[in-house]
Amino acid sequence: MKIKSPTAGIFLGVSLAAISAFGADTNGPAIIPLPQKMELHAGAFKLTPDTRIYVDSASREAEFFLTDRLRKSTGYPLKTDTKFLSSTAIKNGILLTTKDANTNLGAEGYELGIAPDSVMICAPTQAGLFYGVQTLLQLLPPEIFSANLITNVDWQMPCVQIEDWPRFKWRGLMLDVSRHFYNKSQVETILDAMALHKLNMFHWHLTDDQGWRIEIKKYPKLTQIGAWRAGVGFGLDPKSTTAYDPDGRYGGYYTQKDIREVVAYAAARHITIVPEIEMPGHSSAALVAYPQFSCTGGPFTIPLKGGVFNGIYNPANDETFKFLDDVLTEVFQLFPGKYIHIGGDEVPKDTWKNSPDCQALMKREGLKNEEELQSWFIRRIEKFVSAHGRTMIGWSEILQGGLASNAVVMDWIGGATEAASSGHDVVMSPTGYCYLDLYQSKDRSTEPHAIGGFISLGKIYSFAPTPENLPKQYESHILGAQANLWTECIPNLNCAEYMIFPRLTALAEVDWSPKSTRNFDDFSRRLQIEFQRFDRLGVNYRRITTNAPAANPAK
Ligand code: ACM
Repeated sequence: MKIKSPTAGIFLGVSLAAISAFGADTNGPAIIPLPQKMELHAGAFKLTPDTRIYVDSASREAEFFLTDRLRKSTGYPLKTDTKFLSSTAIKNGILLTTKDANTNLGAEGYELGIAPDSVMICAPTQAGLFYGVQTLLQLLPPEIFSANLITNVDWQMPCVQIEDWPRFKWRGLMLDVSRHFYNKSQVETILDAMALHKLNMFHWHLTDDQGWRIEIKKYPKLTQIGAWRAGVGFGLDPKSTTAYDPDGRYGGYYTQKDIREVVAYAAARHITIVPEIEMPGHSSAALVAYPQFSCTGGPFTIPLKGGVFNGIYNPANDETFKFLDDVLTEVFQLFPGKYIHIGGDEVPKDTWKNSPDCQALMKREGLKNEEELQSWFIRRIEKFVSAHGRTMIGWSEILQGGLASNAVVMDWIGGATEAASSGHDVVMSPTGYCYLDLYQSKDRSTEPHAIGGFISLGKIYSFAPTPENLPKQYESHILGAQANLWTECIPNLNCAEYMIFPRLTALAEVDWSPKSTRNFDDFSRRLQIEFQRFDRLGVNYRRITTNAPAANPAK
């Protein structure tokens, strides 16, 4: 697509001299992630109260998102014409269309043309239109992200011609809601910030030792008992959170109605939710509620601090698999996405070693060690997930003892090259680059208490998701990269946002933009404008992008 100027009647790219061919190190617009191709032209389009939005009726969702945002901050009435099906720009209009879109842009690509008298976003899919809207908003002054009317702003966007599409198809964030609970509206706040960054996979870590957070109708004790613990735990100040029930227990959970609403909220932002139900380890919260699925019969308590606990399912009991199949069946009904995450990490094997039933099972099945028993467990679950038309994904350890046939690996401690070169898809989230629970500064005295380690903004920005030693023919198995926020030390949303941003902003550029345009200085320049957007959106973030001291948000 080339945007046709309605007044000049000639192609914009020809009618206006390109004042710069945009590269990563120029003074160009502060778009994050940086588009694949952008030409900056002379002039600007000015939003006025008379600007009209034109959209075909099938593309209303992207239009709603745009007009809602524009109306709130500008106060302009901005009428919408929905009967319009055109691939030609319209004077004083913003046109959103799929008509005559360039299908080579792929399932998430778009073109955005801004001329002095018109704006047009053209994309082959609704996701592409949505991403075009995100870029358009970033071309306006950052005040556009205000929830309230702002006056005295010149609502101009520079004339550009953009062709854009993502480098990777998995651009993710994981949030651990087990160690600390974030309610539905807090999760939606994080989804909003993901959408701003064109991130598309939200990995929801719903169960772990310290809390079970998803209502399962068939097993009500999972949330009646497993969602609550004696206190906030992890040595944190009880006042650092408000997630208590009337009896003073710490915790919370999502009802199935909550989950459906969050899934719909995410879908409207073209974000797929990947639910994680941990097994066979990290399962104390489930076993407190249903100790009959453990090897020892309990008793169990929900641990109040981190570490690896003995919450491990009993694979020698067929009822365990019936329970897990039932749970997954409800999960399938709630989450329409392709991927179901089953954890699989840090499985403590001693309980299986000491269990005569598990040892007898291993003998019967010809399993040489507990790693093979783990693999046997995961393969059994993988068959169930596959039989329901979904794809199972698990952490690195699912490679131990042999990888299940259709499994996808989420690499946090290795295994990417081995898995990808045997034809498995892989998501990259290595601890050295993608763990947002690590400190952001070497000077810990000015930072909120964190789990340890150190990952700077620059480190995450330098991440190369494709392993160097992976033969070229397997590179397409690297689906993309994901940042993980484990929340042992993170009791509230303010703190979570501080740990996430701007490091997730850096990862968004790693996931979306061409490797060749990566430039930390230019990213840092654009980040200063992104910070102004965060301020308008009310998103907390670490303000300092070097290792200088920063304000401590936990105080
Ligand atoms: C993990 O960090 N235990 C996947």
